[in-house]
Amino acid sequence: MNSSEIIDSGSLTGDNSYFIFSELVEYQKEGNVLFLRLTEGSIALEFLTSDILRVVMAKGDNQVDFSSTPAVVDHTLNYNNFSILDRTELLEVKTESLKILINKKNFSLSFYDLEDKLIHQDYNDHALGWSGDQVRAWKKLEEQERFYGLGEKTGYLDKRGRKYTMWNTDTFNPHVPSTDPLYQSIPFLIGFNQGRSYGIYFDNSYQTYFDLGLNSKEYYSFWSEGGKLDYYFINGSNIKEIIKSYTDLTGRMPLPPKWSLGYHQSRYSYHPEAEVREIAQKFREKEIPCDVIHLDIHYMDEYKVFTWDEKEFPQPKQMLSDLSKDGFKVVTIIDPGVKKDPSYKLYQEGIKHDYFCKYLDGEYYIAKVWPGECAFPDFTKAEVRRWWGDQHHLLLDQGVKGIWNDMNEPGIFSKTSTMDLEVVHDNDGDMGTHRRFHNLYGLLEGQATYEGLKRYNFEERPFVLTRAGFSGIQRYSAVWTGDNRSFWIHLELAIPMLMNMGLSGITFCGTDVGGFADNSDGELLTRWIQLGLFMPFLRNHCAINNINQEPWSFGEEYEEIIRKYIKLRYRFLTHLYNLFYQAHQSGLPVMRPLVLEYPEDEKTYNLSDQFMVGDSVLVAPVYQPDRSERMVYLPKGEWQDFWTGQSYQGQKHIIAKAPLDTIPIFIKAGAILPLSPVMNYVGEEKIEELELNIYLSGDVKEGSYRLYEDDGSSFAYQQGGYNIREFSYLYYTDRLEVNIDSLADDYQLEYSSYLIKFRNLDLEPSIVVVDGVESDQWEYNNGDLELKVVIEASKIEIK
Ligand code: GLC
Repeated sequence: MNSSEIIDSGSLTGDNSYFIFSELVEYQKEGNVLFLRLTEGSIALEFLTSDILRVVMAKGDNQVDFSSTPAVVDHTLNYNNFSILDRTELLEVKTESLKILINKKNFSLSFYDLEDKLIHQDYNDHALGWSGDQVRAWKKLEEQERFYGLGEKTGYLDKRGRKYTMWNTDTFNPHVPSTDPLYQSIPFLIGFNQGRSYGIYFDNSYQTYFDLGLNSKEYYSFWSEGGKLDYYFINGSNIKEIIKSYTDLTGRMPLPPKWSLGYHQSRYSYHPEAEVREIAQKFREKEIPCDVIHLDIHYMDEYKVFTWDEKEFPQPKQMLSDLSKDGFKVVTIIDPGVKKDPSYKLYQEGIKHDYFCKYLDGEYYIAKVWPGECAFPDFTKAEVRRWWGDQHHLLLDQGVKGIWNDMNEPGIFSKTSTMDLEVVHDNDGDMGTHRRFHNLYGLLEGQATYEGLKRYNFEERPFVLTRAGFSGIQRYSAVWTGDNRSFWIHLELAIPMLMNMGLSGITFCGTDVGGFADNSDGELLTRWIQLGLFMPFLRNHCAINNINQEPWSFGEEYEEIIRKYIKLRYRFLTHLYNLFYQAHQSGLPVMRPLVLEYPEDEKTYNLSDQFMVGDSVLVAPVYQPDRSERMVYLPKGEWQDFWTGQSYQGQKHIIAKAPLDTIPIFIKAGAILPLSPVMNYVGEEKIEELELNIYLSGDVKEGSYRLYEDDGSSFAYQQGGYNIREFSYLYYTDRLEVNIDSLADDYQLEYSSYLIKFRNLDLEPSIVVVDGVESDQWEYNNGDLELKVVIEASKIEIK
């Protein structure tokens, strides 16, 4: 074999010399695949669309293996309309949007758009290689290049300059910038170079690494401890398109039950039953909205999953039914470890049917977690996933509404904190060691849980929450970021972490509000709740032995502000739910970094302490103690202070007032925002009228908002059971026009009218026109410069 070598100083341990793919010997097009035979092995370029190219490497004489990890959905993407031009030193491959140059002498790929602008290229003549079991790709690092994505990582928004490891890890130590890895592995990267962007998804479930310019200023690199080099290059004219393509490959979140967007209260652990009832009652007494209460490990009998502690919870069904009458949904924790107890039915069944993880010689892998010694279901087997999923009926029958999957890295009380790497997983016959399946364990448990819940009650959308996961976890589960601490720095860290998770397909994510470990305090909890107002998943959770951190725990001053913000969460629910629909449709996150909306503005490129909710709400949380103002960057356009209505011209920094009861929020001038009535829980009362706020400005004379609505709980939306209405307006000096177009109308709206509020209207118009007809259903208040129009929802024609 003809091999060339490079030495990669410092970024790898062990053997640092690689076989590097060099000379192209022959090539052949077969359908949507271009097979390249090189002196060191084969490379297949599989075209999925004109923008998505999969690159798979096979060492030596091996055949190219096209199998994928379970992260990749069964898709039918297939593009064979590419041309090949054989030039002296290059092969030129063209799709409808890309030109790819393949260097024939020293293999490398360079990607250009059709105007010959370089998008991205492999690193000179060291593009792909392997060393022992390691497989690796090197990419050219551009001077101005930034990186986003990688899921749940500490640090700032731009991931450049550090090395990251993908290995699901239970990390109780404080999550500081150097803490890596955490619980999730999302080997998806967005390269962004002065407005130009592309994506790379490395479909390899072994321990993988991304060195994004730590060891070299000239190249970046990703590699794995095993498996094959199999990655997708994703082209797109902006980051949004790249996320869309990435989620075409790894799937999108189904719509969650609407109640799961409400406020969740948790602690390790509420018990006995009386404490759970007391917490619930307090929320209602104090009129602090709350939809969900989580039960941590103490509800179980000796931490045996799918059981109840009969002393502490003698009548779970009764308790859950009473709570449900008061609007509470209860979510119970489930860990994968099954207590090794010969008298425990689940353990017996698992042993009887051969469902637990074993070593090659047949010995069970037994290790300690909360219940003491445990066996672990082998979720790589379809039969085990089904068995596990079916167990949930034991909880759902009692009235449990959602499942919280924890310790599923899997987290083990051992030196390595996880399963022995020599354990083998069956994987329905395609066996492999834990090295291969470790990062998939949480994803497959998520699949088992989601599918089990759906089978049990196919009319209700499941709610599953997980700590561990891999790319694709968004198809099954919401994600929380594990054991953070009640430190201000963890509040700060949450913002870029959640934004990058959103960019990595995981829309439904959140951190433990108030902080899990250590003790919170009133100010910290208040500021965290303010951030939580717009966190896709909003749960207050705290560890055993720490002081309480329910909304009322730190005195009335804080309680009042916290109540205000939880109520505001419910005001924003219609808007949030609409954004979840967008995530379901296109993968776009709810919580967005500004660079997603303003890719031409350099100031947004590493803006880590502000975010947008959709494309019109800008939020600047306060993440330090004793602050009463903070600097906010407003991108181009006009922005209105949500609280005062004051207008600002963007493309500059401002100092926003942020006393303890205020989180700076700005609305893009011209935007339309629905605000729903406050309730104690989702669905408590019928919404009679939906309020739509229009943030008028001198500059912006028109605007629109597309609103998706459905029953919020069933799967009827998958059969068209939803409504989409597009609201738009035009504003002339003395004339206001409002139009409502119905684009889908198969769901019976609960409210009968819209209350449209035009804000900042400094002159009373002489005429208001609704859907082409002059209206008399409006009033103008020149005190607060607001015009209100009432429109009957039933009068809107389907167009
Ligand atoms: C883990 C979880 C935490 C939970 C605790 C007890 O530390 O991350 O959320 O409260 O276990 O179950």
